[in-house]
Amino acid sequence: MASPTTEVVECDVLVIGGGMSGCGAAFEARYWGEGLRVVMVEKAAVERSGATGEGLSAINCYMGMRWGWNTPEDFVTYVVNDMMGLAREDLVYDVGRHVDATVHMWEDWGLPIWKKPDGTYERVGRWQIPIHGESIKPIVAEGPRHALGRDNIYERVLITQLLTDSRDSNRIAGAIGFGVRDGKIYVFKARAVICTAGGASNVFRPKSTSEGLGRTWYSVFDTGSVYGLVIPTGAEMTQMEHRFVPSRFKDGYGPIGMWFQFFKARATNAMGEDYTVTRADVLKEYEPYGTAVPTPTPLRNHQMFLDIMEGKGPIYIRTEEAIANLAQSDPARLEEIKAEAWEDFLDMTISQALMWAAQNIAPEDTPSEIVLAEPYIMGSHSGEAGAWVSGPDDLNGEYRWGYNRMTTVHGLFAGGDGVGAAPHKFSSGSFTEGRLAAKAAVAYVRDTADAPRIDRSEVERIKGEILRPLATFSSHRTTSTSDEINPNYILPRQGLVRLQKIMDEYAAGTSAMYSTTDAVLNRGLELLTMLREDLDHLAARDTHELMRCWELVHRAWVGEIHIRHLLHRKETRWPGYYYRQDYPKLDDANWRVFVNSRRDPETGRWDVFTRPYHRMAA
Ligand code: FAD
Ligand code: ADX
Repeated sequence: MASPTTEVVECDVLVIGGGMSGCGAAFEARYWGEGLRVVMVEKAAVERSGATGEGLSAINCYMGMRWGWNTPEDFVTYVVNDMMGLAREDLVYDVGRHVDATVHMWEDWGLPIWKKPDGTYERVGRWQIPIHGESIKPIVAEGPRHALGRDNIYERVLITQLLTDSRDSNRIAGAIGFGVRDGKIYVFKARAVICTAGGASNVFRPKSTSEGLGRTWYSVFDTGSVYGLVIPTGAEMTQMEHRFVPSRFKDGYGPIGMWFQFFKARATNAMGEDYTVTRADVLKEYEPYGTAVPTPTPLRNHQMFLDIMEGKGPIYIRTEEAIANLAQSDPARLEEIKAEAWEDFLDMTISQALMWAAQNIAPEDTPSEIVLAEPYIMGSHSGEAGAWVSGPDDLNGEYRWGYNRMTTVHGLFAGGDGVGAAPHKFSSGSFTEGRLAAKAAVAYVRDTADAPRIDRSEVERIKGEILRPLATFSSHRTTSTSDEINPNYILPRQGLVRLQKIMDEYAAGTSAMYSTTDAVLNRGLELLTMLREDLDHLAARDTHELMRCWELVHRAWVGEIHIRHLLHRKETRWPGYYYRQDYPKLDDANWRVFVNSRRDPETGRWDVFTRPYHRMAA
């Protein structure tokens, strides 16, 4: 096999991932970084990449401060309650105080936001505003694309590993990856790196089967790279036991937020009972969070889960009742509401509209089934997994050791799903967090005189590692009559289903009814360790499959750290997300602490420990 060409790209600030937080980071770094070279690298095409590539129906993080709707302090209260008492107040506040400016800028860029006749924005719920959002990603991508220019955006390049300084392994030096179409190796040398490569879908076996692996709730293109890149550098991670189990329209994964909050729908069981009413008392077991308004997301799930476990399913979302209540027998209003209902999915989750069509569902006539989906590991929605980052300059000394959003590795910053304990950012908050990280990264570059160095022999070694699956395939392909059955290697899809099976059955996935114990987790870790050994024998038939190999490697990091964190937290803090059968209660006295971990890159040893919860202090 001919060795591929290598391109070396030198820059000051490297943004990995061109999603919501990456676009914010690139735009802001360019703004502050006069005289610096800012480069963005994305594995797909920025116009349609990442979780918002398919579109959105609302902006879920907006304070509305100019209309006196909410303050950043209100936002902190809401987020901490939704996380059952555990979120970094400093990081959440920082997003809250800046996010409105992002939304107003997007509107200037052309994002159509629904408005009332008096010019104020329509609202979905307290924090959400509806948009005509099918084209949100191309609109948001336009700013950074213009700001950076063609020569500074590398698309269809998958980053496989981060590179650290040859003299200081706790300092970032760049990143390495390959062109997913041409197989070319790219070495990015950078003084600061902002990692924004997205959360993780498909780590757990999804409810969808076979070709449905391509249909999950979170973007199938978010393969846990932000974690799979950051963890091996030895950066400290936080709340990696946390996951988001979304309740969704069955099979099409249509989101429910618009239906509950904007259309004011109820969900009822097969007996016609509303579990939020019949199971109101359950919430009292989880004080002081249980009776917060709104009910925390895991507890809403928990109420539904109890109904399902008692054989009271299916659960239906009563679209027909909600539409009738809103239309009040006015035919024109009915048509408007029907259009809004279809737009909610056509803007964002087109497959749900297809499910309605396929199952002869007219939402004004027929209710739709909703279910609890498989877990997702992410940090920007109702999940808070991610890197442990330094807080903003003016808040909380306890959580500040460097520059805002910098991980414990010098010069390595994170954003969006990559930042832990700072959830409910969604699209607008993730972009905002990218901006915050970028401003700090530019300051870091200006303050740090000497450039990091990269060891050439180490780069050569990593290149071999990146391309090994191609070599493995070409060495062994003739030993079997089928590419797919060969004792010398595993293909990435085979590795993926094995990972999903382990996570599902041992780490509280859907088939285990979200339940697990120490013993079950330890057995899962044994099996996962064997899988990780076998990843050295991954094979790729082409560069597309090589991308799948590296996505699997990143997902396997997510699986491992998730199990290690689940093992550490001896309580059930988020019923409805997962249940520790051996520690079934919320234990606020002992466990209102962050679970953090670090894997030593030299020895491979994991250290899992806790960090105290501090209230925000200005
Ligand atoms: P992303 O935006 O996903 O960006 C990650 C980027 O990294 C992607 O472009 C990806 O291609 C790239 N990448 C990944 N791996 C690599 C690699 N190894 N090398 C190079 N590049 C890589 N938010 C709202 O505000 N309102 C909504 O209505 C809403 N609805 C949603 C509906 C759905 C179906 C989904 C999936 C999400 C929704 N969200 C919504 C949430 C929002 O999309 C996310 O919170 C946000 O996109 C997270 O930003 P991010 O930058 O962390 O990740
Ligand atoms: S989406 O991001 O994929 O569209 P989803 O529809 O679940 O997610 O949620 C959209 C927003 O509504 C989020 O801010 C979520 O926390 C909120 N939400 C969803 N359901 C409810 C509910 N029943 N009560 C309060 N907030 C809700």
